[in-house]
Amino acid sequence: MPPPKPELDRLLRAAAEVRGNAYAPYSGFQVGAAVLAGGRVFAACNVENSSFPLGVCAERNAVAMAVAAGEQRIEAAAVVGGGLRPAAPCGGCRQVLAEFAPPEAPVLYATATGVPVATTIGALLPSAFGPADLRAGEGSTGSRAAPSPGKRRSAARARASRTSGR
Ligand code: THU
Repeated sequence: MPPPKPELDRLLRAAAEVRGNAYAPYSGFQVGAAVLAGGRVFAACNVENSSFPLGVCAERNAVAMAVAAGEQRIEAAAVVGGGLRPAAPCGGCRQVLAEFAPPEAPVLYATATGVPVATTIGALLPSAFGPADLRAGEGSTGSRAAPSPGKRRSAARARASRTSGR
């Protein structure tokens, strides 16, 4: 079940608001993104760098925030950027979203003032390469195979407890 409309509106508002913090002195193109994960909203902006390739897109920063907070399932995403037309997430960000979002997860993208375009991660990135491909791949050993989505959290916990000795 996709998140209800008020949740998606909340996501769009968060993306629009955080866009104001974008650090985009080189492109002048400000982007805000928000992801819904575990019922919480994680919002971030693009952060560019004087060493140009080091700039990071808003979506990827938002995904990193969710993962850092312990959330590895993204239920929906919103992106606000663009002037005359809404900016759809770039290819790299589609791949990063698809790592954590099911194909049916809604993705909304909009300009600051316009009507949002509503789509899904599966429509934006059909036939996505993902963790299941690694699991099914040749040469995947038991220890190196990608964890299945349901197991990711417990794998992370196991790693954490090994490190902390608990
Ligand atoms: N950008 C994003 O933040 N998200 C996208 O999906 C596309 C592009 C940023 C990267 C760069 O800081 C600026 O927009 C221009 O490409």
